[in-house]
Amino acid sequence: MPTYQIDVNGQSREVEADADTPLLWVLRDDLDLPGTKFGCGIAMCGACTVHLAGNAVRSCSVPVSAVGSNAVTTIEGLSEKGDHPLQIAWVEQDVAQCGYCQTGQIMNAAALLKRNPNPSDEDIDAAMTGNICRCGTYLRIKEAIKTAAKA
Ligand code: FES
Ligand code: FES
Repeated sequence: MPTYQIDVNGQSREVEADADTPLLWVLRDDLDLPGTKFGCGIAMCGACTVHLAGNAVRSCSVPVSAVGSNAVTTIEGLSEKGDHPLQIAWVEQDVAQCGYCQTGQIMNAAALLKRNPNPSDEDIDAAMTGNICRCGTYLRIKEAIKTAAKA
C-alpha cells in the first residue's frame, strides 16, 4: 500500500492507504478524527464536509491520492478551542437536534463566511442547499450563520 504525507489540521500526518481510499475514511479510521461523518458516501448529503485548501469538499468523494500538499481542515481543527464564531452561534441558537449532519453544516458555512463574510439570505441558501438535515434544522442553521457573520 502506498504511503501519503498529508497536512491535517496544521500537522503533517503519514497514512498508508490505497490510492482510491476516500479521505473521509483516512480521517476517521487512520487519523482518529471522527468528527467528520459518513452519510451517503456518494457526495449527496454533505455530512462529510471538510476543507481542502480552504474550500468545502465532500471527503467521501475525494481519494486520498488527490489531496497532495493541500491543507485539510476538519471540525476538530476549525478553531483551537471550539470557539469559531459559527460554533459559538450554533450553541447560542441551539441549532443541533440529533447532531449528525452538523459537522458538515458548520464546515460548509465556515467556507461560505471565508469567501463571503456578509452573506445575504440568498447567498446562504445557495451555499447551504446541498447539506441535508433530516431533522429539519435549516431555519436555525440560517440564523446561526447570520449571527456568526455579525460577530
Ligand atoms: S457522506 Fe459525503 S456527501 Fe454524504
Ligand atoms: S440535526 Fe439531525 S440530521 Fe441534522
